[in-house]
Amino acid sequence: MLEFRVIEHNSKDYWDTVHLRELVLRQPLGMRFSSEELELENNSYHIAAYDENKKIVGAAMFVPLSSTKLKMRQVVIADDWQGRGIGKELIEFAETFARSKGYKIIEANVRQTAIGFYEKLNYQKQGKEFMEVGISHIKVEKNLN
Ligand SMILES: CC(C)(COP(=O)(O)OP(=O)(O)OC[C@H]1O[C@@H](n2cnc3c(N)ncnc32)[C@H](O)[C@@H]1OP(=O)(O)O)[C@@H](O)C(=O)NCCC(=O)NCCS
Repeated sequence: MLEFRVIEHNSKDYWDTVHLRELVLRQPLGMRFSSEELELENNSYHIAAYDENKKIVGAAMFVPLSSTKLKMRQVVIADDWQGRGIGKELIEFAETFARSKGYKIIEANVRQTAIGFYEKLNYQKQGKEFMEVGISHIKVEKNLN
């Protein structure tokens, strides 16, 4: 059984998400998080997925842009857990949480390589592709009705 939870910034669970995000998203680009960057994550909601042994298998972060809009960042599933529906469940859990807090819209700048994943979750492409951290990205948005 998988478990999905909202976790506290700077808790042990939070640092487990940092390690997972660094491993899957940053290390392949030869990048690391700076302490300033992580300190700024204090204002975000952090959500994580755990396997039956309580080991972290996925994470995502949601930055409030206004009282109704969130920016989704750094969606990640551990390499050996990808393609089993956990990313979908993680985002659906986060969307339910966001609705419960009164948020109406989630936007994100997502990697072109993952656009099919977000489209399956009904995120709509907005505008043209652009480069971020050396990778082609596109903005997506979803109305949480
Ligand atoms: C992208 C990612 C978060 C998706 O999570 P996941 O658990 O592997 O995806 P799921 O198994 O929940 O997939 C849900 C659906 O999206 C599809 N999908 C998943 N990844 C996809 C991709 N990269 N491109 C196109 N479709 C994808 C699946 O085939 C599945 O379709 P189905 O419902 O018809 O079977 C995960 O693979 C990952 O962490 N990748 C590496 C890091 C990354 O690219 N993060 C996103 C940055 S924007």
